[in-house]
Amino acid sequence: MEDSSYGPASFRTQADALLRKNLTFQKRNISTNIRLISFPFLLCLLLLLIQILVNDQLDQPKYQCGCTCIDTNGTGTCQQVCGIQYSTLDQAASCAIPTPQEWPALLQVPDPEYRAVKTDFISYSDLPDASCRETGSCPATILLTGSNISLGENLARNFFTGVFSPSSSDMLYSLANSLLGSSSMTSTDNFLEPAFTSNLPLYDIQPQCTRNSSFSVPFQIESVTVQQDVTCAQGLNLWRNSSSEINDELYKGYWKGNTERMINEIIAAYDFLNTNENNFNVSVWYNSTYKNDTGTAAIGLVRVPRSVNVASNSYLQFLQGSGTKMLLEFVEEMPKRASKLKLDFSSLLGSLFFSWVILQLFPVILTSMVYEKQQKLRIMMKMHGLSDGPYWMISYVYFLSISLIYMLCFVIFGSLIGLEFFTLNDYSIQFVYFFIYINLQTSLAFLAATFFGNVKTASVIGHIFVFGSGLLGAALFQSFLQDSNFPRGWIVVMEIFPGFSLYRVLYEFAYYAFTGGRMGTNGIRWTDLSDSTNGLIPVLIIMVIEWFLVLLFAYYLDQVVSSGTGVQKHPLFFLSKFLKKKSPSFRKPSVQRQGSKVFVQMEKPDVSQEREKVEQLLLEPGTSHTIVCDNVKKVYPAKEGNPEKFAVRGLSLALARGECFGMLGPNGAGKTSFINMMIGLVKPTSGTAFIQGLDIRTDMDKIYTNMGVCPQHDLLWETLTGREHLLFYGRLKNLKGPALTQAVEESLRNVNLFHGGVADKKAGKYSGGMKRRLSVAISLIGDPKVVYMDEPSTGLDPASRNNLWNVVKRAKKDRAIILTTHSMEEAEVLCDRLGIFVDGSLQCIGNPKQLKARYGGTYIFTITTLNQEEEVVEILVRRISPNAVKIYHLSGTQKFELPKQEVKIADVFQAIENAKRNFTIQAWGLADTTLEDVFIKVARGAQASDELA
Ligand SMILES: *[C@@H]1O[C@H](CO)[C@@H](O)[C@H](O)[C@H]1NC(C)=O
Ligand SMILES: *[C@@H]1O[C@H](CO)[C@@H](O)[C@H](O)[C@H]1NC(C)=O
Ligand SMILES: *[C@@H]1O[C@H](CO)[C@@H](O)[C@H](O)[C@H]1NC(C)=O
Ligand SMILES: *[C@@H]1O[C@H](CO)[C@@H](O)[C@H](O)[C@H]1NC(C)=O
Ligand SMILES: *[C@@H]1O[C@H](CO)[C@@H](O)[C@H](O)[C@H]1NC(C)=O
Repeated sequence: MEDSSYGPASFRTQADALLRKNLTFQKRNISTNIRLISFPFLLCLLLLLIQILVNDQLDQPKYQCGCTCIDTNGTGTCQQVCGIQYSTLDQAASCAIPTPQEWPALLQVPDPEYRAVKTDFISYSDLPDASCRETGSCPATILLTGSNISLGENLARNFFTGVFSPSSSDMLYSLANSLLGSSSMTSTDNFLEPAFTSNLPLYDIQPQCTRNSSFSVPFQIESVTVQQDVTCAQGLNLWRNSSSEINDELYKGYWKGNTERMINEIIAAYDFLNTNENNFNVSVWYNSTYKNDTGTAAIGLVRVPRSVNVASNSYLQFLQGSGTKMLLEFVEEMPKRASKLKLDFSSLLGSLFFSWVILQLFPVILTSMVYEKQQKLRIMMKMHGLSDGPYWMISYVYFLSISLIYMLCFVIFGSLIGLEFFTLNDYSIQFVYFFIYINLQTSLAFLAATFFGNVKTASVIGHIFVFGSGLLGAALFQSFLQDSNFPRGWIVVMEIFPGFSLYRVLYEFAYYAFTGGRMGTNGIRWTDLSDSTNGLIPVLIIMVIEWFLVLLFAYYLDQVVSSGTGVQKHPLFFLSKFLKKKSPSFRKPSVQRQGSKVFVQMEKPDVSQEREKVEQLLLEPGTSHTIVCDNVKKVYPAKEGNPEKFAVRGLSLALARGECFGMLGPNGAGKTSFINMMIGLVKPTSGTAFIQGLDIRTDMDKIYTNMGVCPQHDLLWETLTGREHLLFYGRLKNLKGPALTQAVEESLRNVNLFHGGVADKKAGKYSGGMKRRLSVAISLIGDPKVVYMDEPSTGLDPASRNNLWNVVKRAKKDRAIILTTHSMEEAEVLCDRLGIFVDGSLQCIGNPKQLKARYGGTYIFTITTLNQEEEVVEILVRRISPNAVKIYHLSGTQKFELPKQEVKIADVFQAIENAKRNFTIQAWGLADTTLEDVFIKVARGAQASDELA
C-alpha cells in the first residue's frame, strides 16, 4: 500500500505499545494491586497469629516439664528440681527421661468376649464352645503348624509355664517369669506402657485357671506404686495342618465369617517350618491393628518381642530340658532429651490456606481478560491494528509477571515471619514448582476467558473454582492421599485437575516441613524427589504437559470461538494455507443475484445505479475505490418464536478516496449492523465488502491496520488519560518518536482536548462530550485509510460540534469515511453523499442537493392573518400557484406547499406586497425544503410500502 505513510506496525511495535499501556494501567490500579498482594500477607499474618497463640498455650506450665521445690539440706532454702516424677501426664511429654522405666514384655491378648470359639463359619472342633463367652471363661488360643507335628506338640507343651507367683521383692522379675498379656492399645513410644496405666487387667496365661484367680499386685512406676489387676486366662494351643489353614482361620475370625457379627481373635500363631534339633526356624503371625495410631501418621509399637521369646524359650527347653530358661526380663525405651512441645501450624493448615492464596490469582487474571472483552476494548484495539500474536504474548508475560511478583511477595513474607513451610523447604524446589504452577494457572485463565463474556459471571465462577478446589482438596483429595489403600494411579488421574495438583504439591511440602520441624531437620531437598511415595515428579510432569496443552487449546479456542473478540475463524483455520491453494480467488462477483431480484424491482433508480456501479467495479481488477460493498446481507436467525430478522438486505455501495458517506435512517434501521459487519464484529450472512481490495470475510487482520473506528459507545479505559489513549493507538498505527508526539498533540488540539490539562485527566472523569471527542481523535490518529464513525457528535455542545466537523472535514481529504448520524445538519455539512437507510435497505442515495431536489421540489409558504381572512388568503395563494396544497391551518396561521416549477420567488413577494394593502398580514415566510423533510418523507414512504407488501 504505497499510500499508507507508516505501514503496518511490526510485532515488536505492537507488543511495545501494549506493554506500555498495560504498565500505565497497572500504575493507576495501584490500590487494587496492593489489595491483591495484601491477601497472602493477611493470611500469613493470620497463620502467624494462630502460631503465636498455640506456642503461647504450649508454653504454659501445663505443658512444661513439672518442677517442684525441695528442701535438700534442711536449711529452709529450697531448690528447684524438675523431672518426670513431678509432672502430670500432659507435662511429662516435655521432660527429659534419662533412665526410662523398665516394663515387662507383654503379649497382645484379646479380651474374653472376643477370644476364638467354635462357630459355624470355622469348622474346627477343637475350639471351645461359644457358651464360654457368657461366663467370661474362654481360653486364649495360640495356633501352631510346621512340617513335624510331633516336634510341634513338644514345643507347644513348653509354652505355658505354670503359676504366677508374685514376689514383692522383685516384682519385675516375677512378672517377666510368667506369661503376661494385655488387650490395651499401645502408643507410639514405650515410656509408659498403657497396660499399666489403663484400667484393663493384665492376663496371666496358664495351662489351667482355678476359680477366683483374679488378684491385684503392686507395681512400681518411677516412685509411684500402682495396683495392677491380674486375671488368669487359660492358654490353649491348637495344631493346624498347614499355614494356609491358619491364614484361613485368622481371616474368617477377623472378618466375622463375612456374614455374622462375631469376632474370633487369637493371641498369635506360629509356623515352625522345617525346624528340627539342629535348626530353629519359625515365623510368627501378629495383629498390628491394635497399635493406636489414630489421627497421626506416627507409627505405634507392636507387642512382638514376647511372642518371639515364648517360641525361642520353648525350643531351648525342648533341647535342654525344663531346667534351662531364656528370660526376656524387660523392655525399655531409649532415653530422651527434654524437649519443648511445638506444633507448626503453617504446615498443618498450609495446604488449604496456601492453595487459596495461590489460586486467588486465577479469578484476577480471568476477570481482567474478560473485562477487556466485555468492554469491547480488545476488539477496539484489534480494529486499530493490534494483532492476536502480540496481544497474547504481552498479556501472557504480563499476567505471569504479576503472578510471579505475587508469589515472591508471598514466599518472602512467609519466610520473614518464620513459617517453617517456607524456611525449611529448599527454595529452589519451591521456585520450580510454583513457577510451573503459575504458568499453568495463567494459561488456564486464558482458556477460561474464552468461555465468558461477562465479568460478573467470570468472577463468580472463578471464585467458586478457588474455594471449591481448596475445600475439595482438603476434604476429599487429602483423605485419598492419606489412605494407603487408595490406588496411586487414581491419584495421578485426579491430579490432572490443576487444583488437585497444586494441592498435592502444597501437601507434600507441608508434610516435609512438618516432619522436618518435628525432627529438627530439613524439609524437602532435591534428593527427596527420588522418593516415589511423595509423587512430586509425576505432578511436575503433569503440570508441564498440561501447561503446554492448555495454552495451545486456549489460543485455538480464542480464534475459533469469538465471544466478542471479532469474527471467529474456521475451526480448521490453521489449514488455511492449504485451503487457499484450492480456491485462489476470493474476489469474484457474488453469485446470489437470484435472491436479490425482489429488491431490485422495488429499488429506486439511484440505488440500482449504485449496484450496477459496484458490479462494474468488481469486474475491474485494480479499483481506485477504497470501499466496495457487494450486496452485503445480515439475517439474524429465528429465535424464541420470533421470525428471522433481516437487519441488512443486500447493500451495495462504492466509496472513493476522499469521500464521506453519510448514513441516515430511523432507529433500528440496520445502520449499526452494517457498521458492525464492516468493522469485523459480526460476519455478513452473505455478500462481502472489499476495503482497499481486501475481503472483510478473510483479511480482516490486514484491514485493521488501515482502519479507524469511532464506535457509538465510547470504548475507553477508565483509568487512562486522553493522551495515553492516543499514544497507545498511535503506537499501534506505527507512529514513533517525534512523529507520534506531534500527531498526539495535533489531534488533542483538533478535538479541543488540549487546554487546561484535560489531556492528562483520566478518561473516566471526562464528560460525555469529551469522551466522544477523544473517540473521534482515536479513530483518526495514524492516518487510517478507512474510518467508520457511528454518531460521532451525539451529546456535543454546538461549539465542540463545529470543532469536530472541522476536524472531520480536514480529515476526509485522503480517506474514505462512513458516518452514521441523526443530525441532518451534520450530514449536510460533512457528507459528500447521503444514503437513507430504512428497514435494512437503502431507499435513496445521492448528494444532499440532489436528494432535496428529488424529494423536496416544493417551497413551504407560511402566513398568519386574522381568522376571518383565511379564505381570502387561500384564494391569493391559489392565484400564485394553482397546485398549492394546504398542509396546516390553525387560528389564522396557514401552511402551503408550493411546487417549485410553478412559483417564482419574486412573484410571491409581489403578491404579498399587493395583498398587504387589502388586509393585515401579521407575518409570513417562504422556506426551501430541508433535508429533514426529505428524510421524513422517504422514511414514511418506505414504511408505507412495507405495510402494503
Ligand atoms: C520329628 O521330630 C522328632 C522329635 O520330636 C524326631 O524324632 C523325628 O525324627 C522328626 N520327624 C521327622 C520326619 O523329621
Ligand atoms: C490334618 O491331618 C490329620 C492327619 O493327617 C488328619 O487326620 C486331619 O483330618 C487333617 N485335618 C484337616 C482339617 O485337614
Ligand atoms: C486385631 O486387633 C484388632 C484391634 O484389637 C481387632 O479388632 C481385630 O479383630 C484383631 N484381628 C485379629 C485377626 O484378631
Ligand atoms: C527357614 O524356612 C524357610 C521356608 O521354608 C526356608 O526358606 C529357609 O531356608 C529356612 N531357614 C533355615 C535356616 O533352614
Ligand atoms: C489412642 O491414643 C490417644 C492419644 O494418644 C488416646 O486419646 C486414645 O484414647 C487412644 N485410643 C485407645 C483405643 O487407646
